[in-house]
Amino acid sequence: MQPVSHVVRITLPNYLAGLPVPESFTGWFKLGLKDWAKLIPFFATIGGLSYSVYKIFAPNLPINHKIRKEEPKIVDVIPIENLGDKTAFCRCWKSKNWPYCDGSHTPHNACTGDNVGPIVITKK
Ligand code: FES
Repeated sequence: MQPVSHVVRITLPNYLAGLPVPESFTGWFKLGLKDWAKLIPFFATIGGLSYSVYKIFAPNLPINHKIRKEEPKIVDVIPIENLGDKTAFCRCWKSKNWPYCDGSHTPHNACTGDNVGPIVITKK
């Protein structure tokens, strides 16, 4: 337990005290290359820890935000005879022509960095 205590009470405060954190906002613009090099591991650690905490505690959000929300479960039955030679079904839940793809996945992907797209059924 003593090594943990040493890190928390001595090593970490000494490390933080040695970081070149400016006292004013404009001081950030006056930092040199060596100063930024000292700050990179600190900010990388903070970013990594923040991301890890987010991934652990991120809530399970619903995928469907607006399509037929009044229904307890959305199920569509489409006779195969009603399909053309090629039919694209939405998998992103953004289509205004549900259950068919209307291309709404494209702006969604551009906005979020996601990579969703339709499932395309063909007769051949
Ligand atoms: Fe949803 Fe194309 S609109 S996959």
